[in-house]
Amino acid sequence: MDMYAHRLIPVVVIHDAADAEPLGRALVEGGLPIAEVTFRTDAAAESIAIMSEIDGLTVGAGTVLSPDQVELAVEAGAQFIVSPGLRADVVREAQMDGRQVLPGAVTPGELMAAQAMGIDTVKFFPANLYGGASAIRALSAPFSTMRFVPTGGVSAQNLGDYLALSCVAAVGGSWMVPAGLIQAQDFAAITILCRDAVSLVQSQR
Ligand code: 3PG
Repeated sequence: MDMYAHRLIPVVVIHDAADAEPLGRALVEGGLPIAEVTFRTDAAAESIAIMSEIDGLTVGAGTVLSPDQVELAVEAGAQFIVSPGLRADVVREAQMDGRQVLPGAVTPGELMAAQAMGIDTVKFFPANLYGGASAIRALSAPFSTMRFVPTGGVSAQNLGDYLALSCVAAVGGSWMVPAGLIQAQDFAAITILCRDAVSLVQSQR
């Protein structure tokens, strides 16, 4: 499984684990069979476990802030771990569990620390506030082997700016899985948003 294959990672917030299965199916149906399920709600671990049962869906954990949460996520079946920042014990725990780990790093110092931990791809969050695509372009000069996954304020309107950079492995975002549609259980609308997002990415290639 290559979590960057679609160059797009939906960041999802699930409040009720009962929504996990229809949401996972909506993603698969929309041609975007990957989800970063954030540990921002109590339903995260159960949702990961439910979604991990769906054929063809790659499920990871997001907003992972501590080694304990890495453990919970791995137990639930998370195939990758995303953290908004760089914490050595979180990275180590995920690596020990054999999971791909995407920690956050936005400054040269954080990027150097990430490199020292054997990290080759970082989350660049919140991308819109830390200088967007031009900041990533500038950082990729000294960090020429580092790959970036900008997230935070990425939308259909600006994803082309990020994906034009070869150092951008993928973009992350919640615009194709809006909380309102999950709460309204309008999974058909989510499938349509995913299809649109996938076509947009394909048109950038
Ligand atoms: C994340 O954790 O990656 C972000 O909260 C997603 O940001 P967005 O909602 O602005 O897409």
